[in-house]
Amino acid sequence: MRIAFISDIHGNFTALQAVLADIKSQGADQVICLGDTISLGPQPLETLNALKEFSSIYIMGNHDEAIIDPKKAAELEITEHLVPDLYWCRERLSASDYEFLRSFQSTHEMTFANGVRLLAFHGSPISTTDIIQATTPPELLDKYFAGQTATVLIGGHSHIQMHRRYGKKLILNSGSVGNAFEFAFSPGNPPHLLPWAEYAIVSQSGNTFNVDLRRVYFNTDELLKTVKASGLPGTAWWFKQY
Ligand SMILES: [Fe+2]
Repeated sequence: MRIAFISDIHGNFTALQAVLADIKSQGADQVICLGDTISLGPQPLETLNALKEFSSIYIMGNHDEAIIDPKKAAELEITEHLVPDLYWCRERLSASDYEFLRSFQSTHEMTFANGVRLLAFHGSPISTTDIIQATTPPELLDKYFAGQTATVLIGGHSHIQMHRRYGKKLILNSGSVGNAFEFAFSPGNPPHLLPWAEYAIVSQSGNTFNVDLRRVYFNTDELLKTVKASGLPGTAWWFKQY
């Protein structure tokens, strides 16, 4: 069984198309989206429609929550200068798009044929805004994963791919499709974006379990052309990113 995990697309349809083409070439039984789907980028609707077509499980991200209720943007840790993009994105959505976003679940658990159990989430299983990184102290991991019995734990949100042992468990981050970060985000020191899209394929065959953290290059000039034509409030921000 092969499962593709995509996360943090952020309305970057150019990057998503490159990833979907790669998933097709690699083969996957299912595509699971780990959240932060459509805000920030120039093509929220194209992104949403492609996700409806290719994914079957959708996890709620903090940006998805903020689109549903933008008054919560600060509490959902959306950087202030990105808030106008949230409203720009909201103006483009229909009632059924909102209904679709509201249907996103907080976690998803599945079992592979060999009995390995996997838990999917956005930030952590308890919050969309928790950031789990290679340097997160084990005591914090104990708090985030208290009571969880799955042995493979996969999220997004940090925009940095990760493969980390945690006792006998494995913590994975599929990275970001649309906003791959150069280094970990910290307030006042925002990272630039990398000119590729990131995602993961997790597969199980017989007694073999495999994680493939993939990087797919996409055309950033094409993306910036789309940004320029879109009228997105954050147009200047995108042009500073690459
Ligand atoms: Fe996020």
